[in-house]
Amino acid sequence: MSDKTCEIAFFSGTGNTSLAVAEIAKVLSNSDLSVSVRTIENSSPEDLGRSDLLGIAFPVAAGATYPFVLDFLEELPSSSDGKAFLAVTMGSSPGNVGLHVRELLREKGYAPTGMAQIIMPTNFRRLRSPNMRDREVLREGLESARSFARNYLEGGTDWNHGDVEPDFAGMREDAATLWKILRSRYTLSVNESRCDGCELCAEVCPVGNITMEQGLPVFHDNCQVCMRCFSLCPQKAITVGGVEYEQWSTSEEPWRIEGFDPEQV
Ligand SMILES: Cc1cc2nc3c(=O)[nH]c(=O)nc-3n(C[C@H](O)[C@H](O)[C@H](O)COP(=O)(O)O)c2cc1C
Ligand code: SF4
Ligand code: SF4
Repeated sequence: MSDKTCEIAFFSGTGNTSLAVAEIAKVLSNSDLSVSVRTIENSSPEDLGRSDLLGIAFPVAAGATYPFVLDFLEELPSSSDGKAFLAVTMGSSPGNVGLHVRELLREKGYAPTGMAQIIMPTNFRRLRSPNMRDREVLREGLESARSFARNYLEGGTDWNHGDVEPDFAGMREDAATLWKILRSRYTLSVNESRCDGCELCAEVCPVGNITMEQGLPVFHDNCQVCMRCFSLCPQKAITVGGVEYEQWSTSEEPWRIEGFDPEQV
């Protein structure tokens, strides 16, 4: 019977991060840890912080991550003796996000014990269809997630990435400014002739940025540019900045982890 608890809070726009979290959770569950998983978009920060080990996972976005994820991290409760790890998925590079998050958690009293940097196929402005190369990158990414978890259990992980002064608050402020620019550059719009009014985009948006009006989606002003609605639209009816990019999604339900239903937490 497990006597230690691990809670993983994650956000995944299009499935890469949820697949990586599933691998990490499976490996950690085979130890003395009792693992539960929850989504950041459906949790309150204060629900967390009571476990022996806190895991945070998210996609890298613009060298940081989505503003609503940064807000969530900022609001995490303090811990007196908990450990923490971070897992990020990314197309190529994490920037300094790991360094800033490590310092935030350290200030809150967590002991930062390891960071996984998992390369996955990019879900941003994809010009070509998913192909064998993406499959290979995905396979290697999932192996790297498993390997991180195995090393974690053996005490062999570290979290020493980046060479700037840690400044989580500064990163959060910069992200707020940057996302204003991203929202104006990558404005979502709907191709009315393709949209069949299924409402899926409105249902899946993690921040409630889409409402349906007269059978069509209306995009409001809090878009995180997470690609979820765009990638899951069955009719490929959503464009990004007026461009029809290739959709990328490794899961039809990126908020769900097989065997670890966040709604059961
Ligand atoms: C708006 C946006 C910005 C991104 N910025 C970065 C970046 O700075 N560095 C990087 O390596 N990947 C970047 N990516 C790629 C994602 O981090 C990567 O595809 C990730 O695995 C997606 O995870 P998800 O499927 O769980 O949402 C970006 C993706 C988006 C949508
Ligand atoms: S998911 Fe696509 S088809 Fe469905 S309402 Fe949204 S834009 Fe229209
Ligand atoms: S509107 Fe689409 S891209 Fe923007 S936050 Fe919602 S799901 Fe993500």
